[in-house]
Amino acid sequence: MTRIRTQVGIVGAGPAGLTLAHLLHLQGIESVILERHSREYVETRVRAGVLEQGTVDILCNSGVGERLKREGLQHGGVELRFDGKGHRIDFQELVGKSITVYAQQEVVKDLIAARLCYGAPLRFEAEAIRVEGYDADPKIQYQHGGESHEISCDFIAGCDGFHGICRPTFPEGQLQIHERHYPFSWLGILARVPPASHELIYSYHERGFALLSMRSPEVSRLYLQCASDEDLNNWPDDRIWEELRTRMATRDGFKLKDGPIFQKGITPMRAFVASPMQIGNLFLLGDAAHIVPPTGAKGLNLAVADVRVLTRGLVEFYKHKKHQALAQFTERCLRRVWKCQRFSGWMTSMLHRFPQEDSFSHQIHLAELDYVTGSRAASTTLAENYVGLPFDTPGLF
Ligand code: APR
Ligand code: PHB
Repeated sequence: MTRIRTQVGIVGAGPAGLTLAHLLHLQGIESVILERHSREYVETRVRAGVLEQGTVDILCNSGVGERLKREGLQHGGVELRFDGKGHRIDFQELVGKSITVYAQQEVVKDLIAARLCYGAPLRFEAEAIRVEGYDADPKIQYQHGGESHEISCDFIAGCDGFHGICRPTFPEGQLQIHERHYPFSWLGILARVPPASHELIYSYHERGFALLSMRSPEVSRLYLQCASDEDLNNWPDDRIWEELRTRMATRDGFKLKDGPIFQKGITPMRAFVASPMQIGNLFLLGDAAHIVPPTGAKGLNLAVADVRVLTRGLVEFYKHKKHQALAQFTERCLRRVWKCQRFSGWMTSMLHRFPQEDSFSHQIHLAELDYVTGSRAASTTLAENYVGLPFDTPGLF
């Protein structure tokens, strides 16, 4: 068994682990990242693609925003569509901010390239098997190239996603789980066809929710609400386009052009929060600690917000020998997490059809959307949350 030492051992090379390692590197704090999948796998995994302005600022100010600035699509608003009509929520006018559409795997590629460029440790196909000693002497055991290895470190960052090994390490009874399951999923596609709108469209329809998003001027990303146990085989391409056209239709003849679909998948809808997000010297970040339903695209942004909090805490610890910010990690992260749960949950219930909903509920959905799009106060609330709430504490980047 080989043994190495570092300051922060990071499990997982998703957006959380990679951003954390990058920000720590810029502060002179060493880390090693372990990722169980290959580089190709993490660089091609299809996920959401909306970045809050605060997330864009962190990436750009920390020197990994070159391509994001060039290729990211900046949007000053979104459309809410219902009852055959579209209504634009103008973020720029209401709150003076915007969002950027840039796929999560592109963020991941940029962070990996930066890390390899400055030669810091990032091990692919290295699976963490066990984390231990979080009270006094943290260690991570992992498998790489058919052999066992061990990292000894000051802190462990569990950035290993919802199915990772770090959260289950918390002793039974010391972790509170708050959970909500939704009785539907999203069927998502990527299609080689220019987006039918230059901004995102969230559409509420009697047959269910639909979302038009994009990845580039040539590639559309579209979603349909479907049953939670939906079988993709029941959805040939023609049926998907037909259903999208029905749910996106407007009275003034909106046209949705189809094109070759090159990726299809089902995203389950779940809300999940684990508390606390730390025990001893072990911290949970991103999907390892919380999942939001995807309506509002908060997942990656919340992961980056956790990273911001932990980076500040670790900098205070290493530079000024202060523990206070680290001790407040859970509290600081969860304040934002719960606000994002509230927002994503609200967007989800407003825009989806729940099983057994009657005509009364349908009218309530329409009234709520009419209110949100018609009242400046309500539109501002949506805009303020969508572009990302301000951070409670000043950041380093
Ligand atoms: N050893 C090493 N790596 C692991 C292990 C393990 N035992 N378990 C999990 N991993 C890796 C996974 O392979 C994955 O690449 O941890 C990584 C976790 O990354 P993500 O799932 O992307 O989670 P996170 O970085 O928190 O990103 C949050 O991702 O799922 C989206 O909507 C979510 O956008 C949000 C973002
Ligand atoms: C996406 O582009 O993948 C996307 C956009 C908005 C959402 C969710 C996902 O709310």
